[in-house]
Amino acid sequence: MSDNITIRELEFVPLLSEKQVQDRVAELGEALTERYGGSNPLFISILSGAFVFASDLMRQFRADCEVGFVKLSSYSGTRSSGSVQTVMGLEKELKGRHLIVLEDIIDTGRTLHFFLDHLRGQEPASICTVTFLRKPDAAEFPVQVDYVGFDIGNEFVVGYGLDYEGIGRNLPGVYVHNE
Ligand code: IMP
Ligand code: MG
Repeated sequence: MSDNITIRELEFVPLLSEKQVQDRVAELGEALTERYGGSNPLFISILSGAFVFASDLMRQFRADCEVGFVKLSSYSGTRSSGSVQTVMGLEKELKGRHLIVLEDIIDTGRTLHFFLDHLRGQEPASICTVTFLRKPDAAEFPVQVDYVGFDIGNEFVVGYGLDYEGIGRNLPGVYVHNE
């Protein structure tokens, strides 16, 4: 494992190595291939954080698939800001499609709760949700989570798509804020 890092004024310590992350993503890709292979699912990556996870996971999906992106926002700094807004929408027709929603992390569940409501209104054939990380507070907003990469503590993390004030998304492993 690599050493501690500092982003702006905060110190972070290693939580998940690049290898742990990649091994788990390969497992998830295999499970999704078994379930969705042959049905041309549409991966929906929630931007910005999930783009790294989406990129790796869809390359572990060994059958035809498509990908779309949606930008939602509920965070500023290290605390949830409360409201969720769709900043950039999906241009694809969702009706009758098998949707695989990809999230970087579920914290309160607010982001996914509202987005899933929105998706259900589009009459997809099915919806499944995959989150790279999940915090214990995820129960705050009821949300359907089908696959979880890793359950973590109630701490602020960066890396593998997750940022602290814009920094840290390119880290291949995950780091946790050392409080
Ligand atoms: P939720 O709506 O409360 O579930 O928050 C989910 C969103 O908040 C994620 O998509 C992230 O963008 C952001 N977020 C939550 N926890 C963290 C964290 O520990 N590090 C970085 N971003 C986080
Ligand atoms: Mg996010």
